[in-house]
Amino acid sequence: MSVKGAQLHEGKSKQIFAVEGDDSHVIMHYKDDATAFNGVKKDTVVDKGEINAAINWHLMNHVSDVTGIPNHLVKALDSRNHLCHKLEIVPVEVVVRNIAAGSCCRRFGREEGEVLPFPMIEFFYKSDPLDDPPISAVHARAFGWAHDWEMAYFEFAAAKVNAAMVDFWSTLGVDLVDFKIEFGRTPEGHLLLADEISPDGCRLWEKGTKRKLDKDVFRRDLGDLSDTYRELYQRIFGHTLAEGSQA
Ligand code: TMP
Ligand code: ASP
Repeated sequence: MSVKGAQLHEGKSKQIFAVEGDDSHVIMHYKDDATAFNGVKKDTVVDKGEINAAINWHLMNHVSDVTGIPNHLVKALDSRNHLCHKLEIVPVEVVVRNIAAGSCCRRFGREEGEVLPFPMIEFFYKSDPLDDPPISAVHARAFGWAHDWEMAYFEFAAAKVNAAMVDFWSTLGVDLVDFKIEFGRTPEGHLLLADEISPDGCRLWEKGTKRKLDKDVFRRDLGDLSDTYRELYQRIFGHTLAEGSQA
């Protein structure tokens, strides 16, 4: 049994805890907090932690099964806590875009909704004080954030993850606009897919209507994020969260 130890880190949507007597794992706890614009906008979203934990567990493991790209998840301890391999997180966020939205439109003056001719893979330096600036392998190499082979692997892995994710969401009537993934290193130097894959770090539009089904609902005050995430949960698992909890 894995017993929660001291808190090692508190992020915007998760807390990371040590595991008592076990230095090679951590416990990832999903909070109900939502933030946007690098923490400038904050709120509590009812059941968000539980919904994201369930979606991440399902989606990340599905993606790993389909692609062979390994991830850090070890065991779902309960509805909000996952036992994970302890990693050194690489401070490079890998973003894949299928449709232009968000910072891609802002930076390049493009229209939201422009379908890209092929997936665009971008890197950002994971730094709240700097607002996650866009980078290339040049910066990762010069500043020691990641080796060239790691950056090459991120691009390869992100393309595979994207293909699996596009298919996954497509069967649920949802277009995958973009998403962000992160990787971490094991003590042996192996790379694992880390952090989470949840609607917090994806843009998801209902097919046909382009209705937003992701954190943009919160960023842009388009409705109740809890209702949006419940709808995604229902689409994925075929039942509501409450029914699932009672089962
Ligand atoms: P962006 O349009 O703001 O660059 O974001 C692209 C996608 O990546 C979007 O789905 C949100 C996600 N993302 C995060 O989850 N966290 C981040 O820090 C960044 C830069 C992007
Ligand atoms: N991930 C960042 C935050 O939570 C930026 C965003 O999602 O808008 O503040």
